[in-house]
Amino acid sequence: MEQKPLPRILVVEDEPEIRELVTFFIQSEFKAEIVEAENGLEAKKILEKDTRFDIIISDYTMPEMSGEALLQYIRENKIQSKFILMSAIDAETVAEVHKVMPDAVAAKPLFTQPLLDALSIFLTDPVVENHVSIAVEHLNRAGEIPFAVYARLSDQKFIKVLHEHDFFGSEDLVRFQKKGISHLFLQRDDAKAFFKKQLDLYVSLAQTKDQSSDDIIQLGDEITSAVHDMASNFGFSKDLEQLTKIGIDLALKNISSNLPLRELLKNLDLKTGNYLAIHSSRLPYIANHITRLMGWSSDSTAYKMALASMIHDSTLSLTVHAEYKEEARLAAEAAQKLSSTHLEEFYRHPLQAAELTLKFSGIPPDIDTIVAQHHERCDGSGFPQGINHTRIAPLSCVFIIAHDLLCFYEEEGKNFKIENFIALRQNEYSAGNFKKILHELAMLELS
Ligand SMILES: [Fe+2]
Ligand SMILES: [Fe+2]
Repeated sequence: MEQKPLPRILVVEDEPEIRELVTFFIQSEFKAEIVEAENGLEAKKILEKDTRFDIIISDYTMPEMSGEALLQYIRENKIQSKFILMSAIDAETVAEVHKVMPDAVAAKPLFTQPLLDALSIFLTDPVVENHVSIAVEHLNRAGEIPFAVYARLSDQKFIKVLHEHDFFGSEDLVRFQKKGISHLFLQRDDAKAFFKKQLDLYVSLAQTKDQSSDDIIQLGDEITSAVHDMASNFGFSKDLEQLTKIGIDLALKNISSNLPLRELLKNLDLKTGNYLAIHSSRLPYIANHITRLMGWSSDSTAYKMALASMIHDSTLSLTVHAEYKEEARLAAEAAQKLSSTHLEEFYRHPLQAAELTLKFSGIPPDIDTIVAQHHERCDGSGFPQGINHTRIAPLSCVFIIAHDLLCFYEEEGKNFKIENFIALRQNEYSAGNFKKILHELAMLELS
């Protein structure tokens, strides 16, 4: 892969300690090539030979050629570098006094944060070599985050959006969601530490007594988000297993009531956000409703459905999925929209997720089959194996229809009618268990 040249920064400061501090500070946050100058005049001499600096950071008061004079020189000579003025004078005063404006002002003595902000904006390429995606909901309960958090601008470019020890509150969640940002990024090691801390938090939250059904559903969404983040970034771990099991227990506790489908769907209150995680956390409710309808329900079946739901899409790391309201549509459009690597990842996800479930200890058998078959179709048009109703396992059929029903409900919202779903799917679900399940759903509607 072609290496991008490092950004170049010229640091102009007459006090050696401060110059050293600024250089050190930049290097600890960014990968950059840094050139130092002792004053404006020396900087000017450097610029006469070489103007290829992305950023010039300059002190204001210097004995030989001030920061202001240097800026004047830069503007007159149409040097394209961004200019950050470090000054004891605040930004407004600079604006009042001078005609030539710097691109940013970092006021002394507390210049580090404003300098960092300006650099983040100008460089947009901090050291995020090994970044890990985190759903924004997942950060919601974190409070103070001891790590820097990044947003992705493009495949290779990241910008720091939260600094170490910034507080992440619900208003931040809304802010990112409004911008359509579903995932932020942490450095890999930071993410590991973060997941550990979150796990403890969810363990204690799941034990909280007297939570309402809504609270449990909300917590279930967050835990599922965390499970997806962990699975897609790190694969199987004991922490992932523990968190998944907490999520399953929580859902199973909540599912026990025997509500009619219409009520059940209403209670699920689908909201926008991390689509994959939300549908994964709501699926057990519908899947278990259908198994009951078929007379196939048992503790073991309920557990299978809950684990299959949480894990079935967990290895998908693509944020592109957040754009789709319906996985079926994604499957149909994937070939045109996704790059070949992403497409491959998408077609592989049922088997990858199935492999993940096999690593879980002490769980009922055959969950991997449900997960592996969740994109197969009655007529054999699905993937990855393209098997038809004669070879798709009965519980997989339940799962596929529950998934389909949930997607349909997500699309229809308030206009949802089960009879419309049945009418629409009659031709598709025309054989074997698919037909039986659809028939039971129709009977339910008539009764
Ligand atoms: Fe799914
Ligand atoms: Fe899927």
